[in-house]
Amino acid sequence: MNKQPIVIRIEIILKNISFLLAPIKELFYGIKSNTIPWQYCACWMAASSFILLLRIDHFLISHSRFKSLYPYYSPLYKLYAFSFATLGFWTWAWVQVKKRKEKLSKLTAAFKNAGLESKIGRLPNLISDFSLDPIIRKMRVTNAGFPLSKFQEQAKYLDAELGIYIDLIKEDREARTIDIIYSHFPMANEVPYVPDEASKSLEYIVGRTRAYTLTTNFRDTPHLLVAGQTGGGKSTFLRQLILNIHLNSKSTKFLLIDLKGGLEFSLFENRKQFVVVPSVLAAVEELKSIDKILDERMTLLKAHQCKDLESYNRKNEAAKAVYLDRQMIVVDEAAEMFLAGHHAKSKDVQIARGILSRIARQGRAVGVHLVIATQRPDSRSLDPQVKANLTGVLCFQMMNDASSIAVLGNGRATDLPKIPGRAIWKNGIEMLEVQTPILTVEEAERFLGPSEKPKKNGLSSAIDPESSFTADMKSKKEDYRSPQE
Ligand SMILES: Nc1ncnc2c1ncn2[C@@H]1O[C@H](COP(=O)(O)OP(=O)(O)OP(=O)(O)O)[C@@H](O)[C@H]1O
Ligand SMILES: [Mg+2]
Repeated sequence: MNKQPIVIRIEIILKNISFLLAPIKELFYGIKSNTIPWQYCACWMAASSFILLLRIDHFLISHSRFKSLYPYYSPLYKLYAFSFATLGFWTWAWVQVKKRKEKLSKLTAAFKNAGLESKIGRLPNLISDFSLDPIIRKMRVTNAGFPLSKFQEQAKYLDAELGIYIDLIKEDREARTIDIIYSHFPMANEVPYVPDEASKSLEYIVGRTRAYTLTTNFRDTPHLLVAGQTGGGKSTFLRQLILNIHLNSKSTKFLLIDLKGGLEFSLFENRKQFVVVPSVLAAVEELKSIDKILDERMTLLKAHQCKDLESYNRKNEAAKAVYLDRQMIVVDEAAEMFLAGHHAKSKDVQIARGILSRIARQGRAVGVHLVIATQRPDSRSLDPQVKANLTGVLCFQMMNDASSIAVLGNGRATDLPKIPGRAIWKNGIEMLEVQTPILTVEEAERFLGPSEKPKKNGLSSAIDPESSFTADMKSKKEDYRSPQE
């Protein structure tokens, strides 16, 4: 007997085994990446168990011409019942096998056409391909001996060949793998600011995803963290957020703490609803007055048995009594506030930390909201207690995985392309890539119109007893006598 037929036979057996193993592998990947449609599979399991229990299957088959095929023999029946009940999972797994095959042949052609085939015919091999969010996917392939630069050079060919939009290509040198972050939807690299896209009270635009404009509001997300390395677009985002909230909720008061020299928020200076403070010392003074507002509002809500500011205002609307407006505290470069040293004394830092932490914990109910922007999200530069209460997170590109993990819990912000305004929005478990709207200082000034108050220099206006916040406190004190008085 010659050897050839045995080898061929073994090959056939191996092929069949791998054919049978393929759906099991897909099920394993599905469980690992949590992509199995559990609800549908569970529904099928419940329905099939019902059919088996009532022997509906037996009834139907015994009345057909296939009745001789029904597995009466016990072990065979067990196998049949198991396969029938888990059919949902197997169907899904086979569809995945088919999709993977199609993808592989497409990929093979794409890599060949993009010149990513080595002299010995080696091609990058697909390891995994899964979704990072409903729109973005991550494909991992072996590098087939090619450097990262070769993949990056060929990105536009791969884009065209595969009909996808590649955002980023990066490599894991040790594992010799290449990660391709892509989507089937194009993403704009610049999005204009259109205030009508978020026109409800306390609503603002987060950015444009690949499919729609994402908006949120301070009722659903009471406090916000804006993080990212320099030049990402934090201050530009804060500018449009402040303007949007101002245009939508004219009674909202803003304390803008600008610790980068007082330049970012200067366009809001000398305007009625805004107080701009350029130093930690001035910020601490204003924060102290907010701390008192917090105390007084808490007492007031308790006295009126209201759970939050909104129910208090509703209750008092009929009586045409006191209306408590929202207060927004925006800090640009929070690290300057939390790190004692050049800009701040440690006593000031302690006070500011304490008050900001209290606002983050209790501000929601009394209508005091916090927006904190920082380049450095580590625990030294941003109080962990404050951070834990900032439920909405917008993270622009980060330099390294550690910073991205500190903000988002994963490395997605390092996967972002280097485009100003590109960020990841995280709210609860939802994580979406967005392009934040661009709003220049000049445009913002046009929306705001001419300033109402005479110009004063930063610090003096900040601790001015008639500044918006301290003045608000005064008026509140009068209000607190009792709306019915
Ligand atoms: N959404 C955007 N779309 C397009 N370009 C943007 C966007 N946001 C910012 N930019 C561009 O990037 C530049 C830097 O933005 P910005 O000053 O907001 O960054 P930053 O994150 O605040 O940086 P830093 O941490 O140094 O203060 C802007 O001058 C603008 O040209
Ligand atoms: Mg900035």
